[in-house]
Amino acid sequence: MRYDDIADELDEVLVTHEQMAARLDELAREVERDYDGKELLLVGVLKGAVMVMADFARALHRPVTMDWMAVSSYGHGTTSSGVVRILKDLDTDIVDRHVLIVEDIIDSGLTLSWLRDNLLSRGAASVKILAALRKPDAVKADVTADYLGFDIPNKFVVGFGLDYAENYRHLRDVAVLAPRMYAQSE
Ligand code: IMP
Ligand code: MG
Repeated sequence: MRYDDIADELDEVLVTHEQMAARLDELAREVERDYDGKELLLVGVLKGAVMVMADFARALHRPVTMDWMAVSSYGHGTTSSGVVRILKDLDTDIVDRHVLIVEDIIDSGLTLSWLRDNLLSRGAASVKILAALRKPDAVKADVTADYLGFDIPNKFVVGFGLDYAENYRHLRDVAVLAPRMYAQSE
């Protein structure tokens, strides 16, 4: 099996890379329709969104540009601090641009709600959100995903760009991290 060497660190695979790629393909068709005739700028949120961006951007059959931001809200824990800091800003001027934020996961929604307002305040023509995954708490947030991959249960997941203390980002699939892996640091 794919994760034999770390089988005791993971509980189960929730979304396979094949399922994710197929879903991102569907979302790409929707985005092509919705942004027909408009220039589109994808803004990826480093580092978690790297895999989503790579798959989603390649699924698009239309011109597109990409830029990146790095924000911090989590540190090494597994719950959101609510404090968002810009670690790396955009290289692009987004005045009058149609921006689609590409994000790995919406949990509390604090990061995305802050980011959306921040990009709108810079004069973007529109700001929408694509998220690969969404957790149940996101219903309480004041941000919604305009394009969503999968709803998942309220478990800490890794893989497909998502990390725990910078580990596991390279795993192809989205898997539940065994709770004993972080129980001690909470
Ligand atoms: P939010 O601000 O609570 O919505 O958290 C968003 C960010 O927290 C995401 O971009 C991820 O980096 C991180 N995050 C939330 N849930 C998980 C998870 O289950 N695994 C890994 N990172 C997560
Ligand atoms: Mg993130």
